[in-house]
Parts: sequence; C-alpha cells; structure tokens
Amino acid sequence: MPTLTFCGHSCCLIESGGKAAIIDPFIQGNPRASLTFEKVPPLSAIFLTHGHGDHLGDAVALSRRDQAPIIATYELAGCCQMQGAEVIGMNVGGRHDFGWGWVKLLPAWHSSSIQTSDGFTYAGMPTGVLLEIEGKKLYHLGDTALFSDLGLFGRLYGPIDVALIPIGDHFTMGIEDALEAWRMIQPLKAVPIHYNTFPPITQDPTRFTGRIQEQGGEAHVLNPGEKLVY
Ligand code: NI
Ligand code: MN
Repeated sequence: MPTLTFCGHSCCLIESGGKAAIIDPFIQGNPRASLTFEKVPPLSAIFLTHGHGDHLGDAVALSRRDQAPIIATYELAGCCQMQGAEVIGMNVGGRHDFGWGWVKLLPAWHSSSIQTSDGFTYAGMPTGVLLEIEGKKLYHLGDTALFSDLGLFGRLYGPIDVALIPIGDHFTMGIEDALEAWRMIQPLKAVPIHYNTFPPITQDPTRFTGRIQEQGGEAHVLNPGEKLVY
C-alpha cells in the first residue's frame, strides 16, 4: 500500500514499491518543512497543482537533480522546462499513465502564475491532482475554493482512498467549506493541508478532523513528517 508523508504546507511525498513521487515540493523557505532538500528521496515524478511559489517550490531543482519529470499543466510545465527541468505538460481533465500509476489533473478554483521581477507570468489553470498508485487513489485538491463539481469527482472517480483538503482560509477554502468538500468527495480518509504556514492561514486543524470524526468519518491531522499508509 502507498505511504503518504505530509512534509508541511501542501507538500506531500508518496512512496510505493521502492519509488517516490512528490506533490508541490515547497521545501526551502517553507517554515513548516519536515525535511531539507538533501533529505528528499530520489524521485520518479514531481506533480504540481499550480505555479505559486508555495507549491512550485524546489520542483525545478529536484527535477534537475533526479531527472524526474515535472507533471503539470502545459504552461507551468513549459516555464519549468525553460529552467532546465524535465517535464510532461498536460492540461485540465486529462489523464496520463506514468508507468507505476496514473494521474488526472482536475479543476481547482484558484489562480496560477509565477511572480518575476517583471510581474506575473501566466502558469496555466490551477488544478487538483488525482493519483492512482497500486490501485489506491489519492486526491490532492491543490489550492481551491469550494465548488460543486467536487461532488461529481467523488461520484465519478471514487472511492477516493485519501483526500488532502486545504483548510487555511484566506487563499483557499476555510474549515466550513472544507467540511462541505469532504461531504461531497466522501473520501475514506481526509487530511487537512495548507494551514499554519503563514499568519493569514492560522487554523486549528482538529476543528476539521473532529467534525469529520463526529460524523463517522476518518480524518487525520498529520504533523509535518508524519506518515499515513492508505
Ligand atoms: Ni496558490
Ligand atoms: Mn498556496
């Protein structure tokens, strides 16, 4: 069974069968990072939900280190390729088989850009990442507002074994909206992400997991570095 390690903020490491992949590798500069750049295991794939710095993070440097492809929307992948990364450019709604599993990029309601000294570079549409590895489905919602198609995804692509749901508010859903997202997706396990990294996204994650547990669901607060086999 795949093992998820929450690495702080939205960064998640997934390990299975001797291979490792990472989603949104914001490590250097992440005050909640559970590991250093050097401690990231050799990667077979890097998934990005969108171009913001707290998600793009160290993706290009990790891709160059491990010759691992960055899998993301076409424009974001293209920006990474121009900096020397290996990439697989996709777009929202598409599925790609990466050999030891598949990924589907799902819509997210957010923005996506890369900030430079000249302003903002368009980085394609923001996404959620649905990953199937060893027959287990992980849905990383990325940064998103609440939207009703989350129910459609839960129905069409479920059962979702684990959903990583942003709860920080301010830039994404807060706890109330995240609870509604959980009700719509109906994942077997839920893990809150995107909170307590910066002052505007301060939250008590047990308010999210506690409410799910009261309703008979399974939810886990993972401190950075903690693992969940799913
Ligand atoms: Ni963002
Ligand atoms: Mn973010």
